[in-house]
Amino acid sequence: MEDRLLSNQQAFEERSQEQSLRPKLLKDYIGQSQIKKNLKIFIEAAKIRDEVLDHCLIYGPPGLGKTTLATIIANELQVNIKYTSGPAIEKSGDLAAILTTLDPGDVLFIDEIHRMSRSIEEILYSAMEDFCLDIVIGKGEESRSIRIDLPPFTLIGATTRVGALTAPLRDRFGVHCRLEFYNTEELQAILKRSSDIYDCKIDEESTYQIAKRSRGTPRIANRLLKRVRDFAQVKNNGVIDKNISETSLDLLNVDVLGLDNIDYKILECLVKRYDGRAVGLETIAITIGEEAITIEDVYEPYLVKEGFIERTARGRKATPKAYLHLNEYYNKS
Ligand SMILES: Nc1ncnc2c1ncn2[C@@H]1O[C@H](COP(=O)(O)OP(=O)(O)OP(=O)(O)O)[C@@H](O)[C@H]1O
Ligand SMILES: [Mg+2]
Repeated sequence: MEDRLLSNQQAFEERSQEQSLRPKLLKDYIGQSQIKKNLKIFIEAAKIRDEVLDHCLIYGPPGLGKTTLATIIANELQVNIKYTSGPAIEKSGDLAAILTTLDPGDVLFIDEIHRMSRSIEEILYSAMEDFCLDIVIGKGEESRSIRIDLPPFTLIGATTRVGALTAPLRDRFGVHCRLEFYNTEELQAILKRSSDIYDCKIDEESTYQIAKRSRGTPRIANRLLKRVRDFAQVKNNGVIDKNISETSLDLLNVDVLGLDNIDYKILECLVKRYDGRAVGLETIAITIGEEAITIEDVYEPYLVKEGFIERTARGRKATPKAYLHLNEYYNKS
């Protein structure tokens, strides 16, 4: 089974290796064409007016290229980018320390922005709107509020759960980028690009085979490529062809649709246990022993997109396609 749930160590290594595969400019960022088109205009307009780019909110499931896009925006603007994340900003002082070290025009990237505390969020409002910080120092009668002017900057927030953002925060972002799953051709282009960076030969049939099993996600495509490349290295002088990609993907036990055991548990729960009835997210979570948030953010979007499950007012339901696919799956194994 495709182990999307990697150990912390594996996940850490994967993230650090991702750096080398990250496109640096918009022209190398594959797919998401509408977003790219718009961003290009907004970036150019900001440059012509010599103003900072409006704050941008980038959202979508894990591994679709949010961090990559934020880095590209900063590169295109030719400014520095500072990275932090919602949970890392614990005190107002943490936020002040980051904001006051920005140079005019810089990008501040806040990953997992939905996990920022409310009190920090409120301080961020005036920073975003008026480029100033109102901070209370001291306690009780001694306390006083000071105002610190900030250099103009662009905040880029990234999140897998845009629904968890408060409306006031969401509304302060002038640009919203909703990343979509990638189609097969786009994933093939990403795989070709990564293979070129690895200096490894790959044919079109192989990029197709890998792309098909990557659940619309560049991170998964690149991960599968790395594994197939290992097989090619040992068995085929580093060349990835149809034969090598098919045998290695089979040996790796990667599902034809890129589904893993959690996806199957979700489908089984809906089909077998609840026989096609609408089931609440919490019930699914308890039944399969997985966190509701993980199901909602990581697994469900792709299952919905592929038409295996439906979200209704009363809960999640399996579709006829889910029944068909499960049947085929059991008949094979
Ligand atoms: N449009 C793209 N073109 C080429 N490669 C891409 C693209 N989008 C993502 N990638 C590749 O996929 C990998 C994962 O992307 P990234 O880390 O930006 O995803 P993310 O959305 O920030 O994920 P997470 O939600 O886990 O933070 C990167 O290494 C990058 O090389
Ligand atoms: Mg990221």
